[in-house]
Amino acid sequence: MHLINFKELSDQELNSLVDLGIEVKRNPKKYSKTFEDKSVALVFQKTSTRTRVSFEVASTQLGGHGLFIDWRTTNFTMADITDEVKYLSRNVDCIMARLLYDTDLLKMAKASRIPVINGCDEKYHPSQALADLITIKEKKGTLKGTKLVYIGVHNNVCNSLIEGCTKTGIKITTVTPIFNEAARDEEVLTEANKTGLWKSTLDAKKAVKDADFVYTDTWIDMEFFTDPKFAAEKEKRIRIMMPYQINSELLKSTDPYIMHDMPIHRGYEISVEAIESSKSIIYEQAENRLYSAKAIMLKLMK
Ligand code: CP
Repeated sequence: MHLINFKELSDQELNSLVDLGIEVKRNPKKYSKTFEDKSVALVFQKTSTRTRVSFEVASTQLGGHGLFIDWRTTNFTMADITDEVKYLSRNVDCIMARLLYDTDLLKMAKASRIPVINGCDEKYHPSQALADLITIKEKKGTLKGTKLVYIGVHNNVCNSLIEGCTKTGIKITTVTPIFNEAARDEEVLTEANKTGLWKSTLDAKKAVKDADFVYTDTWIDMEFFTDPKFAAEKEKRIRIMMPYQINSELLKSTDPYIMHDMPIHRGYEISVEAIESSKSIIYEQAENRLYSAKAIMLKLMK
């Protein structure tokens, strides 16, 4: 079994995965020898702090070994991805990969005889969404009936959040003046629509009125952030998105928890004041990436 997105998981399976994340956080010792003699390949074609740290530390804390593989220094750069993965899956027990393209993740999954985990591509970020669900459940004691508002660009994080929320009974409203076409997946939106739990609006003020959680993400994907070819698009996005910043003005008559999957661009998608507010749970949310990584590997590698 692989984890490329949440489509293959039933609502029940996703809820159980959230509970497993909370359980491993509470009882780390119980799982500390689960992966003795096992290795996890962590393949990165893009930059990362949290995804790398969480999966590497999770591998160690579960008794195994996380092997960091920088795409740029390996023969992934010149060989067919299928051949490289056919080899890799004979020497390690799981592959976690952060790749530019979902199509390459799917090629990896097809070629691999061991589980493949999506560590964020242009369409989905399931390990992030699982950490988000763990954080929400810790704060509210339940997922069902909770209200979350995502304000930002409709991107990979937004897709996985929509999938994760609608499969676990969370009411999610998205306020996304820009749709990143690379992330478009009509199936995710169609399935979310069927649940009646997903709404989309451009009225951020109204959306946050009764929200339990307000969530934002970078307006520009990591691979484009410092790319000079993307400079004009970056300027355009800042102009369109600035009125949608999470700040004290937006939240003045409401009091939701504030979430952000990090890395943060201070003063753009979120104000410094909001990051440092007593309702900000951003660092707890990031910490929970570790328990998300553990839960995913425990489920797939058992
Ligand atoms: N949120 C997230 O995936 O962080 P990194 O890009 O640092 O891994």
